[in-house]
Amino acid sequence: MPGDDGYFGEQVARRYDESVADMFEPARVDAVVDFIAALAGTGRALELGIGTGRIALPLAQRGVPVAGIELSQAMAARLRAKPGGADIPVAIGDFSTTTAGGSFAVAYLVFNTIMNLTTQAAQVECFRNVAAHLEPGGCFVVEVHLPELRLLPPGETFRPFHVSDSKWGIDEYDVANQGLVSHHLEIVGGRLERFSIPFRYVWPAELDLMAQIAGMRLRERWSDWSREPFTSDSGTHISVWEKAA
Ligand SMILES: C[S@@+](CC[C@H](N)C(=O)[O-])C[C@H]1O[C@@H](n2cnc3c(N)ncnc32)[C@H](O)[C@@H]1O
Repeated sequence: MPGDDGYFGEQVARRYDESVADMFEPARVDAVVDFIAALAGTGRALELGIGTGRIALPLAQRGVPVAGIELSQAMAARLRAKPGGADIPVAIGDFSTTTAGGSFAVAYLVFNTIMNLTTQAAQVECFRNVAAHLEPGGCFVVEVHLPELRLLPPGETFRPFHVSDSKWGIDEYDVANQGLVSHHLEIVGGRLERFSIPFRYVWPAELDLMAQIAGMRLRERWSDWSREPFTSDSGTHISVWEKAA
């Protein structure tokens, strides 16, 4: 069961950067930072679920003032320990309700983290909270996978997303409730470790409605950070909603 730090407590935080090392590849990170920095312009950026600073630190190094909201003290401590990390203000709490000081030109929620909110009501609250933080004309950026329901045979609920010699990932779908549990199994130091985390998957059109409820409208939707078109075959989307000016 998760503690006060949610599903990203000390045990996960300790190995987070290593366990998602591919997400830290410079070309990958640069593409995100370019995208967010262009939207920030001369304004401030707010990262929801800032984690260990994968995006926030290089964004701050570009000269964009960055602040964060983060549930996990353990993840925030990893960010603070990195060069420049202590200069990034982080409000500890749930990003659907927690306030960070001041207003922002851009807020962003990457790496599927909107799905960590496991109810529709919490996802709507998140959009409302973001809108309250944005300047008029400010933008909210979300990066999230499309649910892989088309790959599930009728009656099947499990879908493997990673299989290697020492690591396995299996998504377990609960279609009636728009729920998903990602099961991660990995051999670490000769022992099998298991980590299972619940999500609520969410469709682009549903996110657009949440944005509308919060007083924002869709400005852009792409299939990746280099602005490839979003199509019926896209597995991920990068969506940008704009708060009314
Ligand atoms: C997959 S990690 C992503 C971290 C970072 N954004 C990145 O791209 O590397 C998700 C992060 O969101 C945080 N998180 C999850 N749910 C949250 C919530 N409701 N409120 C605040 N932070 C949350 C977790 O603690 C974790 O640090």
